[in-house]
Amino acid sequence: MDDKTLQQHYEELKQQIHFHNHRYHVLDAPVISDLEYDKLVVELRQIETEHPDWVTPDSPSQRAGAEPSEKFEKVRHPRPILSLANAFGAEDARLWYERVRKLDDRVEKAGFVVEPKIDGLSVVLHYRDGVFVQGATRGDGEIGEDITANLRTVRAIPLKIPVEQGSGHQESGIKGMGNLPLFTAVQTPSNLTDRLIPNYLPPDYLVVRGEIFIPIKDFDKLNKRLEENGEKTYLNPRNTAAGSLRQLDPAVTAARPLTLLVYQIVHWENNSQSPQEPRSQWKLLEYLKGLGFPVTDVAQRFDDIESAIAFTVTWDKRRDELSYEADGMVIKIDDLNLAAELGFVGKDPRGAIAFKFPAREVTTKLLGIEVEVGRTGVLTPKAVLEPVEINGVIVRNATLHNFDYIAEKDIRPGDRVLVKRAGEVIPYVIGPVVDLRTGAETPYAPPSTCPACGQPVEHFEGEVAWYCVNAACPAQLVRNVEHFVSKGAMDITGLGFKIVEKLIESGLVKDVADIYRLKREDILEAVTKKDRKTEKEPPGKIANNMLAAIETSRRQPLNRLVTALGIHGVGEVSAADLSRHFPSLDLLRAASADQLQMVDGVGPNIAGAIVDWFNRPQNLAVLEKLKVAGVWPVSVGTSPMPSTGPLSGLTFVVTGTLPTFSRDGVKEFIERHGGRVTDSVSKNTSYLVVGESPGSKLQKAQELDVKVIGEEKLRKLAAGD
Ligand code: IVH
Repeated sequence: MDDKTLQQHYEELKQQIHFHNHRYHVLDAPVISDLEYDKLVVELRQIETEHPDWVTPDSPSQRAGAEPSEKFEKVRHPRPILSLANAFGAEDARLWYERVRKLDDRVEKAGFVVEPKIDGLSVVLHYRDGVFVQGATRGDGEIGEDITANLRTVRAIPLKIPVEQGSGHQESGIKGMGNLPLFTAVQTPSNLTDRLIPNYLPPDYLVVRGEIFIPIKDFDKLNKRLEENGEKTYLNPRNTAAGSLRQLDPAVTAARPLTLLVYQIVHWENNSQSPQEPRSQWKLLEYLKGLGFPVTDVAQRFDDIESAIAFTVTWDKRRDELSYEADGMVIKIDDLNLAAELGFVGKDPRGAIAFKFPAREVTTKLLGIEVEVGRTGVLTPKAVLEPVEINGVIVRNATLHNFDYIAEKDIRPGDRVLVKRAGEVIPYVIGPVVDLRTGAETPYAPPSTCPACGQPVEHFEGEVAWYCVNAACPAQLVRNVEHFVSKGAMDITGLGFKIVEKLIESGLVKDVADIYRLKREDILEAVTKKDRKTEKEPPGKIANNMLAAIETSRRQPLNRLVTALGIHGVGEVSAADLSRHFPSLDLLRAASADQLQMVDGVGPNIAGAIVDWFNRPQNLAVLEKLKVAGVWPVSVGTSPMPSTGPLSGLTFVVTGTLPTFSRDGVKEFIERHGGRVTDSVSKNTSYLVVGESPGSKLQKAQELDVKVIGEEKLRKLAAGD
């Protein structure tokens, strides 16, 4: 290839990578595999190594790799970055409306756009000729800090706009797109139909504002991983996002799951007639989306204020449906010229209002601090609270993270503490209300012995956790078994905490492998012994279901068994990665610490813990027992599901609660045996699997003459009967 052709190829490659990046990080709809994507990036880097002079700031390779800086330079914003006045409730929002309507009665006909108020950090992004050239924090609203290198690492931020050239119906010819027309994914918000800005071109100079945040799921994943490694967990998504943006080393920022939604044009400069700056918030959202920016899909436009308020109020109840934390909704006057004319009060524009959701923070008394012993022996402090309601949920306990956290915040039993409940995250103690102390509260001292077995506790270098290292600690065994049977591990439904405790107490279960030796009478006895007040089913049925679930678990794939073993630092994520590299327990056992570290996310600590685990005679004895019991998987669950098996060619739909399977469990079971699971019944459905309280799917199946079976029959089919 001559240089000219190669350079042309390089330009195409850049565009392809931008396109796929946008599909993945903005639209959440990739059209090629990670591997194919990586290949494109490798090719790009190869060309760039040979031709460093071709590299431009908008190259996808420029997202990472910038040198750490000493400090952040100051940036003056082209126009003040304003904040919002708050409204607490519908009445407040009406008062705002009346105020602005009195100032200008055109407000009545201006329309309103309602958007979520994302609890993140405001950033200001500059694009010259469509290329991302600078990004800054909000700072004091006039002057922010230049965090361009950090923002480049955020994949949702386009480095070049528009992400794709072309009209709505043209085909791109880009690899992996097939016949997808350009912008298919750039769906306009539901009640907006016309595209007003031709081809979504940016002006010569565009400055937009958006919110950087960490989605709740990613935050939980991040914390889970840290916890697995015995490292300090983060307190909440917002602080983590804020800390991540202010890292002097962009490589640190790059490792955090930051993302973005944009909502405002701060500055617009154009030398030609086209395009024209959108002068309605609704069109603005569509325009920014069209350029390739991530824009909320929750926004709605309303003609009148009452509908806008009604919509806002519904989101108060639905806020947990959002993938990120939102502390309210923003009601904006759609006509941006009018909004600008209305001016501002202090730093708050009159043209918009933040409708705040009730805070999910309350104060209550910290009655005491309990210490729990986890399966790996980690001691975790838990706050016992005077029960308090936080938005409809009674909170009795909250997390205190770790002993360092208690010391840092000087949280004392008897204190009044501020507690926060956010999203699906477990409530946590923010800190004490020091002014309300009586003087009787004394600082908390972590225990020096294990509360379950009384043995001295230990601390490992570089970790925040304290451990009980007594392998015979009964609390650990209970947790170990609980972990072994849990959903993400061997998924043995029904083998709950109380029964496990009884089985351990009676000496029937001395390690996890003993589960596979349990007889019907053993379970019956444990079930009868346990507190059965809440149990509706007869013990016989419970025992049968449990035995069936134990039976099914024998065929769990390797990654689940590796998770189930409870090796320090090895959770679901690392177990899946490890199983892919070492596709049998023998291979994993034989791996050296160096070999283990070749697996993504496995550092020296985890590698050491794995080697250590396989060196302990009592663990090897458990493995031997598992092998004898036939629990010795050879398949890896995370690799593509087998297309052959007794259920291959069959399509299943599941409805109702099944006796022993969880929802995910049955899906995996069917797929593991070669079948397919779909969501709705059609004439192509082979079987509808029905459990207790089935939904409308049952009627549909009967109408379409689809065969209806129960769990038992499903197991028979899977066994080839
Ligand atoms: S509009 C003049 N829209 O909330 C425009 N702000 O207290 C003012 N925020 O500092 C901002 N989501 O960081 C707007 N959809 C949204 C927002 C939003 C989050 C933040 C923003 C601002 C704060 C206002």
